[in-house]
Amino acid sequence: MVKAIVIYNSRGGNTKKVAMKLAEGLEVECKNQKNIPDLKDYDLLVLGSWMIMGMVSFAGARYLRKLRKKNIDGKKVALFFTSGAPDDIHPMTENKVPKKIHEVMFEKMERRVNKNNQVTILPERFYCKGAVRTMKHGAPKEPIGHPTEEELVQAKAFGEMLKEKL
Ligand SMILES: Cc1cc2nc3c(=O)[nH]c(=O)nc-3n(C[C@H](O)[C@H](O)[C@H](O)COP(=O)(O)O)c2cc1C
Repeated sequence: MVKAIVIYNSRGGNTKKVAMKLAEGLEVECKNQKNIPDLKDYDLLVLGSWMIMGMVSFAGARYLRKLRKKNIDGKKVALFFTSGAPDDIHPMTENKVPKKIHEVMFEKMERRVNKNNQVTILPERFYCKGAVRTMKHGAPKEPIGHPTEEELVQAKAFGEMLKEKL
């Protein structure tokens, strides 16, 4: 049986919610980027982050890059992310070959974790909206709106589908 784990980084909680639903669907453990265990025995890594200024969040990019040093050779990887904007053309590609936001994000995430082609990136991937966390009187408010209940159901279904497939 395939052993999998969900790993994510999250600032406002959206990506964490999605990660936990994915893990629920897969029936596996879910860890943030600060608590990554020894990955030696895992076959599938489900890796997530969120988008900042059109890029992979800094902590996300860092942990994805660092994973390359954790002997992940030969493992399968499925990617996911959350972002605030609708999935339009990515602004940085408007004057080149236009690409959708999700395409650019997955390319960037893949480049971080798979620079030396040591893992197999699965075609199965997941993304959804996550509401931007606002501040009220200097204190952060819970993000509301996204991920919606429906998006969380989809995240769980994605986890179930991965489990079924593998
Ligand atoms: C400082 C900052 C910059 C952001 N930049 C973008 C962006 O360029 N494009 C986008 O679609 N969403 C952007 N977002 C929205 C986040 O990607 C979205 O709210 C995400 O779900 C946050 O994940 P988290 O709650 O797990 O931290 C930004 C959010 C913040 C706080």
